Amino acid sequence: MNSTTSPIINALLPAAILTTASMSTLLLPMLILILSLFLFLFLAGRRKSRKLPLPPGSMGWPYVGETFQLYSNNPNTFFALKQNRYGPIFKSHILGCPCVMVSSPEAARFVLTRANLFKPTFPKSKERMIGPQAIFFQQGEYHTRLRRLVLRAFLPEAIRGSVAGIENVALRALQSWDGRLVNTFQELKTYAFNVAIVSIFGKDEISYLEDLKQCYYTLEKGYNSMPINLPGTLFYKAMKARQQLAQIVAQIVSSRRMQRKTEANDLLGSFMEAKEDLSDDQIADNVIGVIFAARDTTASVLTWIVKYLGDNPSILQAVTEEQEEIRKSKEESGDEDRSLTWIDTKRMPLTSRVIQETMRVASILSFTFREAVEDVEYEGYLIPKGWKVLPLFRNIHHSQEIFTDPDKFDPSRFEVAPKPNTFMPFGNGTHSCPGNELAKLEMLVLLHHLTTKYRWSMMGSESGIQFGPFVLPLNGLPLRFSLKSRAEEQAV
Ligand code: HEM
Repeated sequence: MNSTTSPIINALLPAAILTTASMSTLLLPMLILILSLFLFLFLAGRRKSRKLPLPPGSMGWPYVGETFQLYSNNPNTFFALKQNRYGPIFKSHILGCPCVMVSSPEAARFVLTRANLFKPTFPKSKERMIGPQAIFFQQGEYHTRLRRLVLRAFLPEAIRGSVAGIENVALRALQSWDGRLVNTFQELKTYAFNVAIVSIFGKDEISYLEDLKQCYYTLEKGYNSMPINLPGTLFYKAMKARQQLAQIVAQIVSSRRMQRKTEANDLLGSFMEAKEDLSDDQIADNVIGVIFAARDTTASVLTWIVKYLGDNPSILQAVTEEQEEIRKSKEESGDEDRSLTWIDTKRMPLTSRVIQETMRVASILSFTFREAVEDVEYEGYLIPKGWKVLPLFRNIHHSQEIFTDPDKFDPSRFEVAPKPNTFMPFGNGTHSCPGNELAKLEMLVLLHHLTTKYRWSMMGSESGIQFGPFVLPLNGLPLRFSLKSRAEEQAV
């Protein structure tokens, strides 16, 4: 400010408006002050993290850690032993990574809902195989956008019109089982795959079904193989099949564009909406990702439902009666069209509780993985940056404090809603399952026809369990299915 400025104006101007000369003399000390403040905060933060203890637990042998203890037996025994010894948060070292496992509802919620502190983490080979731009691997704005697009296609309003389509898939599947000894899990995988394809592509692209199926099956065979990309290996074949899958999806996308059919009411239509501006690669990665997420999960839960119903004849009888009631009311209504409707699926409370209880007892996904993106303090412990964090769903679902007699299959416990965050078969928070409504719908539709039209008997071992990656009845539950006679149907 020069000396000729009026004193009144001088008084009104804020003190911060200073001359260039006085600014440069102040700038250096201010800079030093700010830098020292940052340094202090940084060091204080580090000192704080260093002072915090790691959670209790053992890290096992160098490099291999406790991987063998985890995978040589039932992994759930490992988790339960650790929890008994160390409490609900403990450290370990598996698959070459230090990790923290958490088994209280609060801790699991903390990890799954704080996306800024914990990011999804997968081996690079799995990312390459599914597609690096698929929803599971993402964070931030791109993840939010993908989630909106997936949810839009799978919310109740979007899927209520697809009941009849799913019913056709279910009837076709069940007809093919009549009189045969089947591997229940394998058959249900085919069912869940076909439902996923109809939900993603609608009915029109059914002509691509066989090609999609062949490629997907080759991809699946290599998914858990050693990631050696050399001709002849399972991994190599799987990566080739993945490329072909992406090409088929690109073909479908381009034929829809040519027919100007870009606003279909299915998942592909949602991804293709012009204003979303997703590339063909992004669409392919996410289509493959959704098939991957939808198939084995739903098939595993359905396999367990069939097993538990077989083991509990009185519950099977009650479910059959509930489903017969719906079938009879449709017959008596005199309507020509007896297909199931969305409203019918809302009249199946007991069957829905059987699904819930199966997801709790079987807990087909025992846990999931996240990675700490910075040092995190939780309950007085340090979770160091870069460590894996595993919320243990199964431990929560089998906790005696939360569920009375937790190992017992008792659907009636769901007559009362479980406490918040204690029941999370579909995960929780930012990456929770956007396909949960579709999964429940396709299970109800299949169970309606299975219980009203078929009976089945167990073949082979009835109690064995196999692990990895999903928990399953041994050998996929071999069963012999046959159509009930009319007399049997009427006897219910
Ligand atoms: C009973 C069957 C199913 C179960 C038990 C299940 C379970 C889960 C769980 C636990 C997660 C969260 C994983 C995590 O947080 O790391 C998840 C995510 C996901 N699920 Fe499902 N799921 C099922 C069926 C489906 C179906 C039918 C679809 C699609 C049609 C689907 C699509 C997805 C997708 C896309 C994600 C990733 C979401 C994201 O990263 O934002 N799931 N599922």
